[in-house]
Amino acid sequence: MNTRIKQTDLELIQGDITKAEVDAIVNAANSELIGGGGVDGAIRRAGGTAIENACAEIRRREGGCPTGKAVITPAGDLYAKYVIHTVGPVWEGGNSAEAELLASCYQESLRLAVENHVQSVAFPSISTGVYGYPTEKAAVVALTTVKEFVEQNNAAPTTIQFILFDEATRTCYQDAQSVVFAK
Ligand code: APR
Repeated sequence: MNTRIKQTDLELIQGDITKAEVDAIVNAANSELIGGGGVDGAIRRAGGTAIENACAEIRRREGGCPTGKAVITPAGDLYAKYVIHTVGPVWEGGNSAEAELLASCYQESLRLAVENHVQSVAFPSISTGVYGYPTEKAAVVALTTVKEFVEQNNAAPTTIQFILFDEATRTCYQDAQSVVFAK
C-alpha cells in the first residue's frame, strides 16, 4: 500500500530488509552497536565485515549510540550504500518516554539520510521485536513521525519504505496508516 506525502512515496512492504533496493536501510541496533539477533543479525550477516568494522570505529570514537539516536555506516555487500543504525527504546509499559524515544529514532534516521543525500530509505519496525514495543502502538508512532518529517523537510527522501517481516506486523502498519492518514 502506497501513500504520497508531498514529494515522497511511502510504501508498506512485507519482506526482508536486507534485500531492499534503496540507498540506505535502517537497522534496529543496540547502544553498544554490537551485533545482535533479529534484523540487526540479518543485516550484519548479509552486509559482511565492512559494517562491523565501521561500528567498531564508532564504538572507539563515541562509545556507541544512545537510545533515540542514530549513526551511519557503509553497507558492505548489501545493495544499499549505507546502513543507518538507530537504537529503539525497550518497552517498559509506556511511561518511560518510549514513544518520544521511538519518534526520535525515525527523526534522527531521516535527518542522517538527508545529510547524506539519501533519496530512498527502508525502515524495519524498530523496537517491536526483542525490545517488546507493542507493534500496533509502534506503528502509529512510526508513521506519524515519518509523515511529519516529510511535511516539514523539502529535502526528505523521495521514497520511504517500511519493510515488515511478517504478516501480523504488516497488518498493524496498514491499520495505523488508515488512522494516521485519515487525519
Ligand atoms: N527484515 C525486516 N524486518 C526484520 C528482519 C528482516 N530481515 N528480521 C527481523 N525483522 C523484524 C522483526 O520481526 C521485528 O518486527 O524487525 C522487527 C524488529 O525486531 P528486532 O530485530 O528484534 O529489533 P528491536 O526490537 O528493535 O530490538 C533490538 O535486538 O537484534 C537485537 O542488536 C539488536 O539488541 C538489539 C535489539
